[in-house]
Amino acid sequence: MISFNSEKLIFKLDTPNTSYVFGVEDKDKYLIHYYYGKRISGDDVRFLAVPDERALPSLNKRDKLSFLDCAPYEYPTKGVGDFRTPALSVKNEKGNEAAELFYDSHKIIKGKTVKGKLPGTFGETADVLEVVLKDPVLDLTVILRYGVFNDVDAITRSVIVKNESDKPLTLTRVLSLSLDTDDRDYELITLYGSWARERTIDRKPLRHGHQGVSSMRGITSHQEHPFMALVTPDTTQRTGDVYGFNFVYSGNFDASVYLNQFNFSRVTLGINPEGFEWKLDPGAEFDSQEAVMVFSDEGLGRMTRTFHDLYRNHLIRSPYKNRKRPILINNWEATYFDFNTEKLLSIAKQASKSGIEMLVMDDGWFGNRFDDNRALGDWNVNEEKLPGGLKYLVDEVNKLGLKFGIWMEPEMVSPDSDLYRAHPDWAIQIEGREAGLARNQYVLDLTRSEVLEHTWRSIKAVMDSANIEYVKWDMNRPLADIGSKGLDKEHLGEFYHRYVLAVYELQNRLVTQYPDLLLENCSSGGARFDPGMLYFSPQIWCSDDTDAVERLSIQEGTAIVYPLSSMGAHVSDCPNHVLGRTVPFETRGHIALAGTFGYELDITRIPEEDKNMIPKQVEMYHKYNDLVREGDYFRLASVRENGIYDSWMVVKKDKKECLVTFVGVMNRPNYKPFKIRLEGLIPDKLYKDEDTGKEYYGDILMNAGITINRFHGDARSALIHLKCE
Ligand code: DGJ
Repeated sequence: MISFNSEKLIFKLDTPNTSYVFGVEDKDKYLIHYYYGKRISGDDVRFLAVPDERALPSLNKRDKLSFLDCAPYEYPTKGVGDFRTPALSVKNEKGNEAAELFYDSHKIIKGKTVKGKLPGTFGETADVLEVVLKDPVLDLTVILRYGVFNDVDAITRSVIVKNESDKPLTLTRVLSLSLDTDDRDYELITLYGSWARERTIDRKPLRHGHQGVSSMRGITSHQEHPFMALVTPDTTQRTGDVYGFNFVYSGNFDASVYLNQFNFSRVTLGINPEGFEWKLDPGAEFDSQEAVMVFSDEGLGRMTRTFHDLYRNHLIRSPYKNRKRPILINNWEATYFDFNTEKLLSIAKQASKSGIEMLVMDDGWFGNRFDDNRALGDWNVNEEKLPGGLKYLVDEVNKLGLKFGIWMEPEMVSPDSDLYRAHPDWAIQIEGREAGLARNQYVLDLTRSEVLEHTWRSIKAVMDSANIEYVKWDMNRPLADIGSKGLDKEHLGEFYHRYVLAVYELQNRLVTQYPDLLLENCSSGGARFDPGMLYFSPQIWCSDDTDAVERLSIQEGTAIVYPLSSMGAHVSDCPNHVLGRTVPFETRGHIALAGTFGYELDITRIPEEDKNMIPKQVEMYHKYNDLVREGDYFRLASVRENGIYDSWMVVKKDKKECLVTFVGVMNRPNYKPFKIRLEGLIPDKLYKDEDTGKEYYGDILMNAGITINRFHGDARSALIHLKCE
């Protein structure tokens, strides 16, 4: 709910349990932030931000800068005296970099729709506030957009900047969100990683000055993630004040906190200003993309569940968002590049006998792609491997009762490819400098319309050639050597963002022209696991590390923000290809169950014992997937913290059913059983353990806990399914 107090000029944005309040300083017309936190009654909290009227510039002109450098601005600008991190920075024709924004008007809109083709949250249960600010010197209009959800404790922020003057302006920074907090001693949680180790949780106290995470790789990256949380030091899964921030974007981002001289912090989030410059011609406008804010006064768990609900209900659009995904078997770890129709059909035959529902043909089916050194860009079937072409293979797979999915990496070109030989200048490069290769490939300059149109035609030709029901869209290298024949000196600073917009354009075409398609994004594992991609694909490949034990931390870090239904997770072969570790097949199944669930192994060659377990795992998936996909997720224990065991549970929205997963990762001599306290149940209801028949009241399960017997061996797991009437 959004309200405006016209007498006191205060805006109050209420979600079910949170309030966000800011207002207009009457005489100065500055927009000042007052409060964000647990829902409060009334709106007059101006005293928190403006304790001394006499400091206002209108009353104290001689010390304007002292005010500007301390005031909690709703949207701070660079160049006029606020020396903390700005959200907006604009250069005029003469090169002066300064902007000062004053309140002009506002509008409240019922319902939230997505503008254009760019990702964003939507919903009839949300309202939108647009506050118009103006810089009269630059003739610049800035519209601050707030999406306020009435069914989930989330507020979205974005900014539109319009040049109303008759001279061009240059934007050097347009962040989506700035939030000045109070002066509590916060800690900062971020997600870091590497290839095969994505989204590891990192927590540290705030220090004075600048800190944060960012990407300059043109993609979200394995290394850092556009998520950040400020938490009070007492924060656990269940307790503490938590402010969570996430950026709905898939390119260079910057997420920062600046702790100032008086212990107040400023959080900023948006497109990375490094490598960004946007020429704004007279009459033109720029959209910052959306950032999400979530507040929880019940610890990290509550924040997580809010993000999950928001993304499941108000971001993911796919027809699959509320549907069970077909259980797939992917041939990457089974065959790598060494496959043909016969091999794939033998996998499909065995898979169909075991209840698997879709075959996904990964990298290696096109051009002369016998290894990863060549052929990207040549999206025509390799008939040596697949005689009869794609159609024959897909028809045969369909005859076996399986759907068919395909891998593509549309943004790339190999130097050894027909496409590159025909259009060497289509690769991103700087004239006169040899562009660097990564995995022996270049990135196509999708900011050029002819390259984008060619890429789209290639994708479409593949899609139209057979009954393809799933696409894995991969992206295996970062962007570097930024140059483009399509952008002159004045517009080159727009490259990174234009690249992301081009990827969105292609994915938008794909999902609108093939509306029943199941799209899974991927980037060398999970380097593009972000809300921008979720808007197009309901699931994203989480990591190339399919080792079940490693997956515990990767999936824990991913699930801190993203719903389980979005995490691409497969049972793969052992010894694991990344780590060489062997984990029992049953445990691999239990851990993959927490994601989309599928297989990535040569089903014709795995041990008989494992093969025999697949039908049971298929049954397990069908039994529990509705619950896992739609329920509330609670993190109960983390092996990252205790070194021994890991546990999480999913509770049905009506609280009458739950599934607990427990993994004893590292066995230690100890005769006492593990004890786990559950969450989210109805205290006075009697829950029955389906396996043992034992009954427990919800409050006993939540306060005293359940016991789990020690396993013999490492990486052993159990599922506990409880239900009440
Ligand atoms: C990286 C992906 O993460 C893998 O799953 C696989 O598709 C390879 N690329 C194929 O090149």
